Amino acid sequence: MGEPDLKAFVCGHPIAHSRSPIIHGHWLDSYGIDGSYAAIDVAPADLLNFLGGLAAAGYRGGNVTIPHKEVAFASVQRRDEAAEQIGAVNTLWFEDGVLWGGNTDAYGFAANLDHLAPGWTKGDVAVVLGAGGASRAIIHALKQRGFKDIRIVNRTVGRARELVDQFGAGVSAHAQAATTELLVDASLLVNTTALGMHGNEGLPADPASLPGHAIVTDIVYVPLETPLLAAAKARGLKTVDGLGMLLHQAVPGFELWFGHRPEVSAKLRDLIVADLDKAK
Ligand code: ATR
Repeated sequence: MGEPDLKAFVCGHPIAHSRSPIIHGHWLDSYGIDGSYAAIDVAPADLLNFLGGLAAAGYRGGNVTIPHKEVAFASVQRRDEAAEQIGAVNTLWFEDGVLWGGNTDAYGFAANLDHLAPGWTKGDVAVVLGAGGASRAIIHALKQRGFKDIRIVNRTVGRARELVDQFGAGVSAHAQAATTELLVDASLLVNTTALGMHGNEGLPADPASLPGHAIVTDIVYVPLETPLLAAAKARGLKTVDGLGMLLHQAVPGFELWFGHRPEVSAKLRDLIVADLDKAK
């Protein structure tokens, strides 16, 4: 058996814990596509060489993850609108020999809520906790999906202000002390901070003051039920965990490289949950 014609990859440093090979491997198997998706550890000093050699190595494209998303952004020949807005690239592909960089995180976030919380865009007010790279993708998605009042809360308010400068009208920056009040009329609360992640247990905000119709979601998926989601559930609020965003953000890349739009199924989710359990 020779090498498959359709080759893609995920590069990062480290890369061992990436779940992307399981996701794409599952889809390749399910659809009977003769393709491959490899995890490649690329040290920062080697990234430009690696990207420069993709065409010669026969890759259709691939994913870029931590810590390479910003350098990939600067290195590609063309970028899609989401990448421009977010300032980071997580998906690469070739079009007529030109290396494109896109960002599918905002798409993945919105598609997950479309799937698990239909009607999530009904309200105008969203509160976003955190002002890092992930927050940019969420704010882009919220603006695109029509939220008129996006309130960023961050431990370091200056970082939230930088996002306000970038995203403009309808986005505001706040200190953590204001959170309770900011939540009173919010229809969506999103955690993008590392608080609640395994090893960094804690509550990034108390959902007590949210209205009863509010939806609470976390982009953290280890653990699947973060302290924030547990507190929101205890209050009877609708919650959506972060695993679906990971699954949905993989869809556009798979379609670009392998020519088939894949489904985010319950079976795929179960596969990743089993892998997360194994790593516990
Ligand atoms: P990412 O790209 O994943 O968003 P990041 O750029 O490192 O990562 O941002 C992490 C976010 O989590 C930031 O908003 C950070 O707050 P600061 O900007 O004040 O650093 C937030 N964060 C991390 N640990 C936190 C903690 N213990 N309490 C509150 N916020 C925290």
